[in-house]
Amino acid sequence: MKAVVYQSQKGLSYQEAENKRPEPGEVKIKLKSAGLNRRDLFVMNQKRSQETSYIPGSDGAGIITELGKDVTGFNLYDEALINPSLDWHALKDVPETPHILGSPSNGTFAEYIVISSKNIVKKPAYLSWAEAGVLSLSALTAYRALFTKGQLKTGQHLFIPGIGSGVATYALLFAKAIGTKVSVTSRDKAKLHKAKALGADQLLPTESDWKTELREDKFDVILDSIGAALFPKYFDVLKPDGNLVHFGASSGDNITLSLRSLFYPQFNILGTSMGSAVEFEQMIQFISHYSIKPVVDSVYPLIEIERAMERMQSGNQFGNISLAME
Ligand SMILES: NC(=O)c1ccc[n+]([C@@H]2O[C@H](COP(=O)([O-])OP(=O)(O)OC[C@H]3O[C@@H](n4cnc5c(N)ncnc54)[C@H](OP(=O)(O)O)[C@@H]3O)[C@@H](O)[C@H]2O)c1
Repeated sequence: MKAVVYQSQKGLSYQEAENKRPEPGEVKIKLKSAGLNRRDLFVMNQKRSQETSYIPGSDGAGIITELGKDVTGFNLYDEALINPSLDWHALKDVPETPHILGSPSNGTFAEYIVISSKNIVKKPAYLSWAEAGVLSLSALTAYRALFTKGQLKTGQHLFIPGIGSGVATYALLFAKAIGTKVSVTSRDKAKLHKAKALGADQLLPTESDWKTELREDKFDVILDSIGAALFPKYFDVLKPDGNLVHFGASSGDNITLSLRSLFYPQFNILGTSMGSAVEFEQMIQFISHYSIKPVVDSVYPLIEIERAMERMQSGNQFGNISLAME
């Protein structure tokens, strides 16, 4: 089969790769689409100095072409969507570090993948292949961040800084579906306009004085993946006992904080990463109930992986970037 392989010396290349058969409990899927995530870049950067060779990619969707022994609940030619959160099933079994498909295990930037049947669900019929292929990692992260950790409720006020990211766009769609007021920021006016079209109620330039712009209309929940550049500013605009849910550090890891500014207003700082299989099922039911479709920024043929990666590195995308296998 053809696949995109990452090797520390060569970088990414489109080449022949081993076409495996499923073991008991596994299925083989002919992938129709896959999705890019910032993680693909992080992992490649981490591995640059190591001797390594693997197929990247966490998100994907396709058709089951072979069933291993003892697989139940699926049939040949079912359309399936991959849950890239490996070995995490029950809500409470939070792993020390999430195991994610696409390093160390081979991922979805390939014509075929063999994966445990515990890590697939049936594709909702209303999603196109491109939409289904970009959904899993970002939508699962957004679902757990908003509902399991953030405890977001109808009528509350949610803040999403950096609305351009994949997780951020799902969070906006999910929050609007349950009737939440959503304020977003971006450094890019065009992204703010796109967010408005998706239902954002209040648009703030990232560099503006949020406190003045908001006029005391503070937030119940803040969703942070930007980290150092904005983190200290959140405490000016979070309600007492409000939830700051944190899952990324795009602008850096290290911050200086006054602890006093935390305990007087009793803020809750909650870390989150990916989600369990239970939350994955809940997320699929949620999007199906509200007919929510992922925002697909652009679609590239698998062979054009370099161009797709450049698009992600440019930071100009709004929503998710998709790879098409045909
Ligand atoms: N823990 C998990 O399970 C998990 C899962 C998925 C993603 N993540 C994390 O979520 C983040 C989002 O992923 P992504 O690939 O979409 O992110 P990204 O491209 O790194 O950045 C997302 C947005 O953050 C804003 N931003 C970045 N740097 C900034 C800075 N210095 N100052 C102000 N704003 C800044 C930008 O928004 P504007 O362009 O709108 O200004 C950008 O579009 C990443 O950190 C990723 O690692 C974590």
